[in-house]
Amino acid sequence: MLDQHTIDIIKSTVPALKAHGLDITTTFYKNMFEQNPEVAPLFDMSKQKSGEQPKALAMTVLAAAQNVDNLGAIMPVVQRIAIRHCDCGVKEEHYPIVGKHLLEAIKQVLGEAATDEIIDAWAKTYEVIAQVFIDAEKEIYASRA
Ligand code: HEM
Repeated sequence: MLDQHTIDIIKSTVPALKAHGLDITTTFYKNMFEQNPEVAPLFDMSKQKSGEQPKALAMTVLAAAQNVDNLGAIMPVVQRIAIRHCDCGVKEEHYPIVGKHLLEAIKQVLGEAATDEIIDAWAKTYEVIAQVFIDAEKEIYASRA
């Protein structure tokens, strides 16, 4: 579990990051699809173009981070997203790719305000959240096998 200092940092930075949601999301997807084109086929590109769904992934990570000390509260949402992920073929090895580009987008958006301490806190928090999804998805895949 995360230490209180990390949790405090996350809680103090989530609102600023959410306020820059569009910047973060745009940077995140652009970099991810350019640098890791292998994940692009998982996504429905018509939704990317219409802007209907692309915000969801990045913004949900931020929302989950806000609840990182109370993950039970987001489990119903996790379960719903995990089913969608399994329908799209999302795998455990994709999580570090999303994490890398999310951290980079946060760095780009926060600029100099993104201290090493803040980035480190986000890296740790993303790992915790990613593991919750990975575990939920393992169960779903197993039940479908
Ligand atoms: C902790 C990390 C993640 C969170 C919080 C998250 C969150 C979300 C959310 C909220 C949605 C929308 C669900 C809906 O349609 O109702 C979604 C969809 C999706 N996510 Fe994730 N996601 C994460 C990681 C990943 C990873 C690692 C991948 C693989 C690269 C991925 C690929 C997708 C795909 C392909 C969709 C469907 C989008 C579409 O139809 O275009 N996600 N995710």
